[in-house]
Amino acid sequence: MSRQQFYLDHFKRYYQRGLKAHRKGEHGLARMSLLKAAEMLYKLAAESEGELQKVRKKKARRLLQLARSMPEHTSSVSSKGGAAAKNGDVAATNSEKWIVNELPDVKMDDVAGLEDVKDLIRRRVIYPFQHPEVTEKYRKQKGGGVLLYGPPGNGKTMIARAIAAEVDATFFSVKCSDIISKWVGDAERNLQKLFEAARERSRAVIFMDETEAIVSRRGGDSTVMNRVIPEFLSQVDGLDGRHSGLLLLGATNRPWDMDEAALRTGRFGELIFVPMPDLPARRRIIAMNLDGIPLSEDFDLDVIATRTEGYTGADLEGLCERAKDAPYEREIASGEDQRLEAADIMSIIDDMRLSVTKRTIAKYEKFRSGD
Ligand SMILES: Nc1ncnc2c1ncn2[C@@H]1O[C@H](COP(=O)(O)OP(=O)(O)O)[C@@H](O)[C@H]1O
Ligand SMILES: [Mg+2]
Repeated sequence: MSRQQFYLDHFKRYYQRGLKAHRKGEHGLARMSLLKAAEMLYKLAAESEGELQKVRKKKARRLLQLARSMPEHTSSVSSKGGAAAKNGDVAATNSEKWIVNELPDVKMDDVAGLEDVKDLIRRRVIYPFQHPEVTEKYRKQKGGGVLLYGPPGNGKTMIARAIAAEVDATFFSVKCSDIISKWVGDAERNLQKLFEAARERSRAVIFMDETEAIVSRRGGDSTVMNRVIPEFLSQVDGLDGRHSGLLLLGATNRPWDMDEAALRTGRFGELIFVPMPDLPARRRIIAMNLDGIPLSEDFDLDVIATRTEGYTGADLEGLCERAKDAPYEREIASGEDQRLEAADIMSIIDDMRLSVTKRTIAKYEKFRSGD
């Protein structure tokens, strides 16, 4: 029996049982059955595509709502059953919220600059996925996790999404601080659920942002850390080779806070530094953000790119956004076509507050050189 058929059969069974119990006023049983039915439907949706997937998800959400509207306890349900149903409910709704799963459409070529980083990622991550036999033949290393680190706003998240898109994988994205802070006590279970959900897909990328939050050396709450780190390591250790359709990517702005064990080969075996954009990268990011905007003759992209050393990709995006306000307002006021002038952007460059200081950049360099 296929997995789809299995879920479908179970869905029908739980659904009918739930409706029957509902009619009889056995709310506890109805609630539990409908929750299970919703869970099966979510699993079915995950296996389907396009319109069918949408319809199934929508129906599963409605079922969840209906189930939750029912009282938890009636005499016909044992307290044990009631508690199980309640947990299932919490898990289902929470996992919806804290795991973002999507099929990204951004491509590696959309990431400006970072040519070395992109080459490394193609060789280490994308090719083993796309050409497993060739990778096997040349006994190239595969499996394990890749950790992107570097100053915020320079494309780590963007690269992770692009990787998922390039290998046609579902992208599971979580902020590690969410795993521990919002559901403290259940952090290990949250991690398990995340890896479970990803393993159900034929191809999945798990992207853990702010990785330092769960594999921190110092850790805020050491008791939480002491439980979460082993769980995390055991999930990651289980990855190697065996499930070749699952890829683990992490990102951190604070690599110096990471636990040594998590950085060891096979876990986050590959550390990739994502630096500040260099001159050509800045030029391209600015050009991308001003695409389609009429520019005056005196507007020189090379000059702007030169003048924006120390800007992150996100800073450049912000700069362009602010600069566009000037011609926009002029055009609204005058009713005549305007252009973006060099002065419009220069005046903002002069008073931009940059998100990364020189001192911080030096800290990454120091980490890189192994201090
Ligand atoms: N190399 C880049 N090429 C194109 N856009 C970039 C680049 N780096 C940063 N950006 C822009 O800045 C935004 C923030 O980047 P993000 O990937 O979230 O940074 P990080 O995850 O490293 O903090 C992106 O959405 C993108 O618009
Ligand atoms: Mg990010």
